[in-house]
Amino acid sequence: MDVVPLGGALGAEIRGVDVRSPKDDEVAAIREALLENEVVFFRDTNLDDDGHLAFASRFGKPSVFPLFAIQGETAPTFQTIIDGPESPPSADYWHTDVTWTAEPPMAAFLRATLVPDRGGDTMWGSMTAAYDALSDRMRVFCDGLTVRHDNTSFIRGLERKMGADAVASFANKLREAYPPVEHPLVRTHPETGRKALMWGGGFMREIVQLAKDEGEALFGFLGRHIDQSIFHTRWRWRVGDLAIWDERSTVHRALGDHFPRAREVRRCVIDGDRPV
Ligand code: SIN
Repeated sequence: MDVVPLGGALGAEIRGVDVRSPKDDEVAAIREALLENEVVFFRDTNLDDDGHLAFASRFGKPSVFPLFAIQGETAPTFQTIIDGPESPPSADYWHTDVTWTAEPPMAAFLRATLVPDRGGDTMWGSMTAAYDALSDRMRVFCDGLTVRHDNTSFIRGLERKMGADAVASFANKLREAYPPVEHPLVRTHPETGRKALMWGGGFMREIVQLAKDEGEALFGFLGRHIDQSIFHTRWRWRVGDLAIWDERSTVHRALGDHFPRAREVRRCVIDGDRPV
């Protein structure tokens, strides 16, 4: 198995392993590569949905996405993300997935099933590198702060895609089942011990310990800080490629530059724990 680094801050392509039937020592080596590189990629995997889920389950417990959980679903679920002329890209901003839950996912497994002939790359950012690059004073300031996250922007996104009427039936249920939750602005990775900024993007409402305008100023500064390309890597998809990223130390965004061309990816995540 070869691990080929892709960028200065994060990202590596893993070659020489068949993810349809990995041996235990290969899974252990992939996990190690993931912890070191924060996002890893496999070209041309030939995985189908069952294989995708089976591979993810070697790393943890595949999650039931909250939207399906409130509808009584108990089996692990895929999210199929379809962009096209009727469904414009909606994830082209830096975020970490589902930070509006108390225990956001540990890792995500994303497979491309339809790739546009141009555009539609995904980018990731290392929040450990972004945290490390802050001045000592700023790190100390950020360390003790907590952020309130909620699902308002997620529900708005669904309304845009499906229409407000279609969403009304379960929006309240979603709000009740997943009320606003407080997470640290800086989290410590439970396996590596490294500190990272926890950046939920549009799911972040306010910094609890600061006045509103102070919090907005800090969000503005950190938003510009993490947007520097020195913290990023980027993947140009082919159908069948698989990316795994550590949700505890990265952000990502799905570029919308293929619009209105169609693009489809499928994602499952594995359960995480409470950020500390
Ligand atoms: C996401 O998890 O935000 C989707 C990423 C992508 O579509 O590339």
